[in-house]
Amino acid sequence: MKFNLYRGAFVGDISVPGDKSISHRSIMLGSLAEGVTRVQNFLMGEDCIATIDCFKQMGVRIDSSETDVTIHGVGLYGLKKPKDILYCGNSGTTMRILAGLLAFQDFEAVLDGDASLRKRPMMRIVDPLNSMGGNLECENGKYPPIKINAGRKPVVLKYQQPKASAQVKSALLMAALYSEEGVQIEQPSISRDHTERMMRHFGITISENGPSVSVKKGSSFSGRDIFVPGDISSASFFIVAAAIAEKSNVRIKGVGLNPTRTGIIDVMKLMGATIQIENERVLNEEPVGDIHILGSNLKGVTISGDMIPRIIDEIPVLALAAVFSDGETIISDAEELRVKETDRIEAVCSQLKKMNAEIEEKKDGMRIVGTKQLSGASVKTFGDHRMAMMLSLAGMFAEGETTLDDVTCINVSNPTFYKDLEQLKDIRG
Ligand code: S3P
Repeated sequence: MKFNLYRGAFVGDISVPGDKSISHRSIMLGSLAEGVTRVQNFLMGEDCIATIDCFKQMGVRIDSSETDVTIHGVGLYGLKKPKDILYCGNSGTTMRILAGLLAFQDFEAVLDGDASLRKRPMMRIVDPLNSMGGNLECENGKYPPIKINAGRKPVVLKYQQPKASAQVKSALLMAALYSEEGVQIEQPSISRDHTERMMRHFGITISENGPSVSVKKGSSFSGRDIFVPGDISSASFFIVAAAIAEKSNVRIKGVGLNPTRTGIIDVMKLMGATIQIENERVLNEEPVGDIHILGSNLKGVTISGDMIPRIIDEIPVLALAAVFSDGETIISDAEELRVKETDRIEAVCSQLKKMNAEIEEKKDGMRIVGTKQLSGASVKTFGDHRMAMMLSLAGMFAEGETTLDDVTCINVSNPTFYKDLEQLKDIRG
């Protein structure tokens, strides 16, 4: 796909599709509930559809129409042995959380995924689940497919997470629903807590004390209605686009504002962006509001430590914001980016460098000197949705023509991305 310099502003109100993390969890917990769970504003992106398909294969009836989903929950012990492998596509969240949820069922299952998912580390879930009494193996050493052997009684697990990861935490919390004594997890810094909030919404007892989370064996719970807020990670591309383009004035309505995810707002404000939160409310335990952003003069920042888990998926687009800032931006402690859908440190640095950005790759992050200009180039997305969205914006801010090799991957998380972008452009013409 080709992009040319866009000199205009972004103006208008949009909504972004439902949150990916919350959409996955609604299918998982809705399937384990007794009775019906109705989900509105579900993200019909490829990752979440993979989760729906896995549960359908395990005998759960799931009906959908546009972004409404009805899950006919089968209860904690009602899943059936899948006839085939459970294909998770590109979705690490599906594979890792499902591994925990399936670790103590009385049937075997195999989880597999696409070429990118087959390169992502899985011992981070296999090891703690096996110390809980599970019997999981990676058929390829450390990578998918994962074979989950049936049975074994889970023992109580007190687990100190070596790195912050919501997928690992959530896998263990799901496994705890099948354990006599449950699980207690200590996090090095707090990762997104959508599983905890949704468990509470379903009436599951969960205790949280700072970075420590524990769940006791689950007794049955009933279906609930869920409204999925807009995905702040999808919103982040419009936040950055609006901040960079002078005279922009964008309102993104109904976005999830869970504090474990709002690092992008905090960092953009530190960079000098004018952002206001309006119309705040709480929907099924998740804070929601409208994000109002104006074109701003940005300046470089230094980001590290506990902030990283709060912006983990937004670093590619923050790198673009840094290019269009005054001064230097340094991002460190972000080595986890190397094991996302692609190595995002290498991918961001190599592709923005092709566009003449002053960007330097570091082992655990990057250093960017804001030059406020890019040149069109032929760039690669590596089949990574967040790279594709960031590079699409980079192409619109670059002099000359930019060509992206593959943008279909955007459907993984944000199927309306180009439509929303066009809507914001069209208003000013
Ligand atoms: C997710 C957790 C994060 C994030 C991913 C979604 C989740 O991964 O990067 O896009 O829904 O739990 P980690 O748990 O590996 O940090």
